[in-house]
Amino acid sequence: MKKILVIHGPNLNLLGKREVDIYGKTSIDQINKELTAVADSKKVELSVFQSNHEGEIVDRIGEAKAKGFGAIVINPAAYTHTSVAIRDAVSACDIPVVEVHLSNIYQREEFRHTSLIAPVAKGQISGFGKKSYMLGLEAAIELLG
Ligand code: DQA
Repeated sequence: MKKILVIHGPNLNLLGKREVDIYGKTSIDQINKELTAVADSKKVELSVFQSNHEGEIVDRIGEAKAKGFGAIVINPAAYTHTSVAIRDAVSACDIPVVEVHLSNIYQREEFRHTSLIAPVAKGQISGFGKKSYMLGLEAAIELLG
């Protein structure tokens, strides 16, 4: 079975409670449920991981190919704008990575306008709320071939 890894970065465990005007009222569990339903319908196995810790995210990206994942959907959250380590992991992982953001990072504070991940990702989806994840998953499924 084809496998996709979804990674949620820091503070996304608080979705639904955190800055709901920006990130919406949907919890991470609900998003994961909706992603899993889509994956199931396409006969793709989904693994979901959330961490507030940069190194743990680097570890998961680094072992993804060896664990049989064919693509990654990642919302690196605040690490989008700061993490050379996650960028290098994405660059080295040898499977396609789709970067997603709930908010449109280009409409927000200037420090959010730079993604260190985007230049090494297959593509980026930003600004569609929870739909960004669904579109990211759709793209990742297509990339599995
Ligand atoms: C985010 C945007 C980031 O700038 C922010 O730090 C987040 C969430 C988004 O999904 O819109 O935590 O990645």
